[in-house]
Amino acid sequence: MDVVICRDAETAGKVAADRVAEYIEGLPTPVLGLATGSSPLRLYAELARRVDSGALDVSHGLGFALDEYAGLDPAHPESYRSVITRTVVGPLRMDPARVHVPDGTAEDLQVAADDYDAAIRAAGGVDVQILGIGSNGHLGFNEPFSSFASRTRVKTLTPQTRSDNARFFDSPEQVPTHCVTQGLGTIMDSRAAVLVATGEHKAAAVAAMIEGPVAAVCPGSVLQFHPKAVIVIDEAAASGLAYADYFRGIAG
Ligand code: F6R
Repeated sequence: MDVVICRDAETAGKVAADRVAEYIEGLPTPVLGLATGSSPLRLYAELARRVDSGALDVSHGLGFALDEYAGLDPAHPESYRSVITRTVVGPLRMDPARVHVPDGTAEDLQVAADDYDAAIRAAGGVDVQILGIGSNGHLGFNEPFSSFASRTRVKTLTPQTRSDNARFFDSPEQVPTHCVTQGLGTIMDSRAAVLVATGEHKAAAVAAMIEGPVAAVCPGSVLQFHPKAVIVIDEAAASGLAYADYFRGIAG
């Protein structure tokens, strides 16, 4: 696990974009795993800047979102389908038909989830999985105590996650109670993972993920087993790390 501590969130976005660009360079059909939420927004904005300048082209790539709310109309502005369209597909000039989001309104959610895993496999797997981490340590919507072997499936959101995400809705009650999320096993199959976390509210989860035991109570800690994971954080998110100076020294 590489840990890169950046002076601020802006720099973290640029450093994370460097890693993503490096990992997909030269690939004929890059396959991107896409997180939503606030954490990757600067990373996406930086990738979009590179697309605009001609330095990066992902128009031939494929995308697979990490998760979707269950039961939320895909046309809702806060569905992850809408968020991915707004923050990734448009700005990165990707082909909307090649960017997939789990189906949260399928009649049989598990059948749709199995099809989603099959589509990732058919694409040859994810080259770079972009990630954030929840304040409770969740990865995707794999809440604490999710199986490390899990595949895409329905999960119940914790009260903590629903309260964290209430800022995107008009009232806390409108936050869906369930989701469809790639499993931890699905995420771990990615060839590279780039996780961005910024802000002091992420410090405890970041410390547990990087320095804590690999434990179901912090799903993000499974990344300690990932062969190629980089954690890009700002000083505030690094504030709970006992080994922060060591990580700064390596980045030197
Ligand atoms: C988003 C996702 C979540 C978020 C996490 C952090 O697709 O799967 O794991 O990455 O909840 O959210 P933000 O970045 O909004 O703090």
